Amino acid sequence: MKDSLTIAVLAGTTREQRQSIRAARYIAQFGSQLTGIDIIFVDPMEFHFAGDGNDPEGKDSRYTDITSRADAFFIVSPEYNHSFPGSLKRMLDSELENYIHKPVALAGASNGNWGGVRAVEALVTTVREMGLVATFTSPYFPRVQDSFDDHDQPRTEQKERIDRSIQSAYDELIWMAKALKAARMDTAS
Ligand SMILES: Cc1cc2nc3c(=O)[nH]c(=O)nc-3n(C[C@H](O)[C@H](O)[C@H](O)COP(=O)(O)O)c2cc1C
Repeated sequence: MKDSLTIAVLAGTTREQRQSIRAARYIAQFGSQLTGIDIIFVDPMEFHFAGDGNDPEGKDSRYTDITSRADAFFIVSPEYNHSFPGSLKRMLDSELENYIHKPVALAGASNGNWGGVRAVEALVTTVREMGLVATFTSPYFPRVQDSFDDHDQPRTEQKERIDRSIQSAYDELIWMAKALKAARMDTAS
């Protein structure tokens, strides 16, 4: 078995002025510094999904390839009307088999006090239906617009809290990714 794990970090929105992209980029950067982890950063803005569903027309082959290679996913979603954005749903809906029996960590972001907790709660039911296994440690980014500088780095006074929550989420995601990868390989042989 290849020792390194591939984790796809999925940004949650295509909105022009999106602030949550800063949290997503930082989570990807943080993961790329962990030993034995390969990060693929997925910005839904760079993909094209023609129609709804996971029929051939609804797919983007680059996203298909990424989801096939990924051992785990880390979704970083803003909260839109107490749920997660349609652009994220559209991207997630384009695949199915490539998710099955793989873990996913969920992070939330908002411009208010709650840090996207309702987006994360809404994602749990959706990812479960896709065969993904949701982990239970989620970083939250309340007032995300004030949490990062122009280089997508956490503001000094928030860095310790943010780093601690991201590290905990990766710890659990990596544990689950190793366990599920071993089980998938065992079943495939
Ligand atoms: C369509 C839409 C709906 C939103 N609904 C909520 C909401 O229900 N709860 C909330 O805390 N913030 C809500 N927001 C504000 C976001 O939290 C805010 O834009 C934040 O910066 C994260 O989203 P962004 O990455 O698009 O910037 C909403 C924003 C948009 C564009």
